[in-house]
Amino acid sequence: MRVLCRVTDIDPESGKDLCIDSEKVSKYLMLFIQGGEVLGFYNRCPHQGRAMNWAPDQFILDKLGQLVCPHHGACFKLSNGICTAGPCKGSFLESVETLVKDGKVLADI
Ligand code: FES
Repeated sequence: MRVLCRVTDIDPESGKDLCIDSEKVSKYLMLFIQGGEVLGFYNRCPHQGRAMNWAPDQFILDKLGQLVCPHHGACFKLSNGICTAGPCKGSFLESVETLVKDGKVLADI
């Protein structure tokens, strides 16, 4: 497990994007807080593989708390990552299992 960030680094209103460097590739992640839980995904839209943030740490969350892709408007439920509307409806964000310990967010990546 490696530490990704502190829970307090994640803005509940807009999420957090991260780049984790591993041995050969960089992994781009996004973290959100919803219902008191930290939810992690790879920062890649299943429609065209583009990043889901429009600026550093800036994601669009609609009034239902769904993540909206800034490129073509696909909407994703953060509870399970499913696309509920848009060009990739029915596909899923790739989730990253996270664990919170001592105020830090950890993941096995
Ligand atoms: S790249 Fe996300 S909806 Fe097209």
